[in-house]
Amino acid sequence: MKAYYLIKNGSSKTAFELKDLHLNEPKDDEVTIETEVFGLNFADVMARLGYYKACPPLPAVIGYDVVGRIINKGKNVKNLEIGQRVTALTRFGGYATHVNTNQSGVVLIKEDTDAGIATALATQYSTAYFAAEYSMNLQKNEHVLIQAAAGGVGTALVQLAKRKGCIIYGTAGSEEKLEYLKKQGVDFPINYRKQDFYEYIKAERGEMSIDAIFDSIGGNYVKKGLKLLAPGGRLAMYGAAQIAGNSDNKSIVRQLKTLFGFGKYRPTQFFANSQALIGVNMLQIADYKPYILKKCMTAVVDLYNNKEINPTIGKTFKASELAEAHDFLQKRKSIGKIVIQW
Ligand SMILES: NC(=O)c1ccc[n+]([C@@H]2O[C@H](COP(=O)([O-])OP(=O)(O)OC[C@H]3O[C@@H](n4cnc5c(N)ncnc54)[C@H](OP(=O)(O)O)[C@@H]3O)[C@@H](O)[C@H]2O)c1
Repeated sequence: MKAYYLIKNGSSKTAFELKDLHLNEPKDDEVTIETEVFGLNFADVMARLGYYKACPPLPAVIGYDVVGRIINKGKNVKNLEIGQRVTALTRFGGYATHVNTNQSGVVLIKEDTDAGIATALATQYSTAYFAAEYSMNLQKNEHVLIQAAAGGVGTALVQLAKRKGCIIYGTAGSEEKLEYLKKQGVDFPINYRKQDFYEYIKAERGEMSIDAIFDSIGGNYVKKGLKLLAPGGRLAMYGAAQIAGNSDNKSIVRQLKTLFGFGKYRPTQFFANSQALIGVNMLQIADYKPYILKKCMTAVVDLYNNKEINPTIGKTFKASELAEAHDFLQKRKSIGKIVIQW
């Protein structure tokens, strides 16, 4: 058994080391999975850079999603059997050939399901599903703004919002990503490196005109987004990617800029406009509402099996190319899901 350990914050070139893994027996509610692939998530970049508070102390095995086969299980595990092929949301531990994880984040997949696609379904699609269905309750014909729409969670949100019959404004940072968004059916793709998304939507529809906003960038993006929110509108915040930047060094200045960029809000303004500012954190859902995590994961696997959603695999790297894969994601080159193959 092997795992890539995060041994040092900073550059991806010195951050990870492949070492032997000593895995305990699974706990009562856990299964042990022998992995085929694991997925990258932007939270991994945040953990590598030292911004992620939930990351275990180093050296640590990070990683949120794997696809593989169950090889052992605890005594309370129901409806999952040794030998079955599964996708799993892991609470860290994913950058490994073997991982123990709670049964609530484990869902069966078909033998012929592409492993990369299945790993996208675990964290990114279940997060998007929870945000779109539980937090935001998207409705037909609502105007929806999705930030970083060409990314992993972004693509999932676009597909789930399309499925609901929403009109989508999607932002992305390159012309290649804009072409991708058009193909995904985004009605108004916006290159936010060339055009301010707030000015674009204000000119198109005016302020207070968007029903649902999904924000993973944080800071002033949330502040500007709230000005676009219609009465009855909801803004879900589920990330703060702008803290990361291009640098391998942690920056207090960028952290403070993001923090102050949010601005100040009064509870009465949400009451007066019948609006909601909603936080989404799947780790909290996994810990406190595991049955909801299971429902979200089961729902996205079913939607994929019914051909109602279709994750995009932007690029697959070999495990030995983990450093390059991290750089690719941090430098905003990726589209859809980044997959790591053992
Ligand atoms: N709260 C939760 O439970 C939860 C769960 C999963 C993911 N997330 C969050 O959701 C977001 C998306 O995750 P993901 O794994 O799907 O990643 P991703 O969207 O595939 O990649 C991140 C994207 O963010 C955009 N971005 C904007 N500003 C950036 C900056 N300053 N530095 C780097 N990237 C920037 C880039 O797209 P452009 O070039 O198009 O701008 C980049 O490709 C992340 O913020 C992540 O932390 C939260």
